[in-house]
Amino acid sequence: MAQRLLFTADIAADLEKVLSDYSYDRLFVLTDENTHRHCLPVLADNKLLTTAEYINIRPDDTYKTLETLSSVWQELSSRRATRHSILINLGGGMVTDLGGFAAATFKRGIRFINIPTTLLGAVDAAVGGKTGINFNDLKNEIGVFAPAEIVLISAVFFKTLSREHLLSGFAEMLKHGLISDADIYNRLFTLDLSHPDNTDMLSCLKESIQVKQQIVEKDPYEANIRKSLNFGHTIGHAFETFSHHRNQPVQHGYAVAWGIVGELLLSHRYLGFPLNIIRLYAAFVRQNYGVFPITCKDYDYLYERMTHDKKNEADKINFTLLSDIGKVAINQIVSHEEINIALDLYRDLFGI
Ligand code: GLY
Repeated sequence: MAQRLLFTADIAADLEKVLSDYSYDRLFVLTDENTHRHCLPVLADNKLLTTAEYINIRPDDTYKTLETLSSVWQELSSRRATRHSILINLGGGMVTDLGGFAAATFKRGIRFINIPTTLLGAVDAAVGGKTGINFNDLKNEIGVFAPAEIVLISAVFFKTLSREHLLSGFAEMLKHGLISDADIYNRLFTLDLSHPDNTDMLSCLKESIQVKQQIVEKDPYEANIRKSLNFGHTIGHAFETFSHHRNQPVQHGYAVAWGIVGELLLSHRYLGFPLNIIRLYAAFVRQNYGVFPITCKDYDYLYERMTHDKKNEADKINFTLLSDIGKVAINQIVSHEEINIALDLYRDLFGI
């Protein structure tokens, strides 16, 4: 699954160069209300965009739905998109996931370009060809693997992100560090998140995206090693869905940061992952992300959500675990009882 990445310091000029390499009949740009207002002006000088058709959707993961998808298909259809058209997805993970899926399915597939405008989008969602929508209260339940023609990554968009949004993306960088290499992981703790466009941040971001890119190149359809990118997400997705269920929604990356704590604890129990690294990681998480509150009454709900994880086979919950930083073991079947123990340990570690 070929997918080009372009890191750029001048997104408007580089997008123009990229577009002039393609032949297409109509150009479409998908934004959400926020990226329409704040990010589109950054590209305003681009002459090729003056003739583009614009499609604007509601922001936020709650609108990553079949209804929004259908509205995008409707716009593409009524504005006469063809197989020779190109769709540019300008936004966070919601826009690149939904826009990628809309493009991959419209007339059996048109080309699309991703321009992530959040750190989370750049480090994860926009790269690697996963597209889709939420369905039946389940995240990314419906979708296809379809690579963007190219992903253009510019930190210019990160300057205005809130600390919460930055931390959300940073959690995926922590995950990439944990599954790859101790140097990559340790470097992350030297970063100053209040300056997300500084040189150190950018080199860590590049390194982090390359961790993902290398894994995706080896296993684009998640038959094996790509499951490592799911580290922290089995419990993390359950936390995230639970946060919506009880009307106290948390950002995806926050749920992942906490989910990683649970899955490091499982990693310790199953594979002897070093406890001292878990304690340091949990202290960083507590200080920056706070703690996701759960009680033992929530365990059944959380377990039920984990039974929907896409890695599962034959009703068994399938985790990716680590024996150390960079030492990944996929397809680890964990029992209901062990998951409850990990949730107990999570609460003990955070004193909740
Ligand atoms: N977000 C995990 C993956 O792309 O495989």
